[in-house]
Amino acid sequence: MRKLGSKSRNIIERDHKVMGALTRPYELVVDRAEGSTIFDVDGNSYIDFASSVSVMNVGYHNREVREAVCAQIQKMVHCGFSDYYAEPPVKLSEKLCRMSGYEKVFLSNSGAESVEAAMKLAFWYTKRNSMVAFYRGFHGRTLGALSLTSSKLVHKEHFPSFRVLHSHYAYCYRCPLNLEYPDCGISCAKEIEKTIFKRELSPKDTAAIVVEPIMGEGGFIVPPTEFHQELRRICDENGILMIADEVQSGGFRTGKFMAMENFGVRADIVAMSKSIGGGVPLGATLSSSEIMSWHSGVHANTFGGNLLAAAGGLATLEFMEQEKLGEKAVEKGVYIMKRLEEMKEKYPIIGDVRGIGLMIGIELVGKDRVPATEKRNNVVNRAIEEGLILLPAGDSVIRFVPPLVISREEIDKGLGIFEGVLKITNR
Ligand SMILES: Cc1ncc(COP(=O)(O)O)c(C=O)c1O
Repeated sequence: MRKLGSKSRNIIERDHKVMGALTRPYELVVDRAEGSTIFDVDGNSYIDFASSVSVMNVGYHNREVREAVCAQIQKMVHCGFSDYYAEPPVKLSEKLCRMSGYEKVFLSNSGAESVEAAMKLAFWYTKRNSMVAFYRGFHGRTLGALSLTSSKLVHKEHFPSFRVLHSHYAYCYRCPLNLEYPDCGISCAKEIEKTIFKRELSPKDTAAIVVEPIMGEGGFIVPPTEFHQELRRICDENGILMIADEVQSGGFRTGKFMAMENFGVRADIVAMSKSIGGGVPLGATLSSSEIMSWHSGVHANTFGGNLLAAAGGLATLEFMEQEKLGEKAVEKGVYIMKRLEEMKEKYPIIGDVRGIGLMIGIELVGKDRVPATEKRNNVVNRAIEEGLILLPAGDSVIRFVPPLVISREEIDKGLGIFEGVLKITNR
């Protein structure tokens, strides 16, 4: 059992005085970290099953990333990359192109910014003014990205929106159309044509369909392959661009560099961020030369191509490849899923276990599959007291997204803590 000491309490108290709008699920004041373990300012240690929301795929305090960033600091921290040329961001972009198969990159600093760039590119290229996105989806909180977001009302209340119509995601565990896969014929995807394009929005005004390959914040929802294939067909038949938001799912989290590869579908524009910087703020929007053909002045920013971010990002991508993190994610993911499936047999509170690679979610439920939101929150809160960092998602989901470098011992220890906490909550 951890002991929250005076150092943590002092910082939390001061934080509450100056920080606005941040919702922390529990009290954890971090000090340092190594691999998959975080230490707080009072000396408690925690196994991390959250990777700071799927950012730290290469593990904390990664030597290669650290050394690359330190070496760059010695030379130059920042240059105006919109005004000058520099090699580190070029090298990073070349690497991103090689790994993704796209030809052009726009660099930024965050997920929302990479989504904004994707949206602007789609509006600019198609000269159309609207988009389709999905209920429960999360794409960020800047106003463009927020227009696509539909995970919680609190994110949207009082904020104006671009013209985005939302459709049903393939959430088969709770089918929004009350159908069963595969007999449903992926009706959720077809709703876009059947309802939205018939009654509310002309496909000729639709610049893009924006989709998360696996829904993250909305509840770690893995759709059937045909869902993305249907979206691709609808896009192709109507001259609409497909934007894949890989901000949370990219960076080998699902075994592949981009999660969409698991579905055999290629989007026209991809938004990436989180893990590709190895902890340094980095966003990247990728596309073909034909689509990303915007001329000088159409889009730019101050910090995109920042030299530290570029050096950190390049070292991160190299580490991911050299260490075969994709293969490791699959192998460890299979192991964790098996252990969670076994727990599902024992504890009726686990309604569903789903995921690909190390992007795994379990949905906690009560009688008749009612989302067990309060119990989920109790599990997450108790786990932190026992030294395990978990993060919630959706209405009653717990995500399992450890660093891809996590060891078998750490996985077993973390799952042991989780099962202990679950046992108490399941009563
Ligand atoms: C799928 C997805 N897109 C976009 C974002 C926004 O990223 P950021 O918080 O870096 O703006 C997130 C953040 O969780 C995300 O999960």
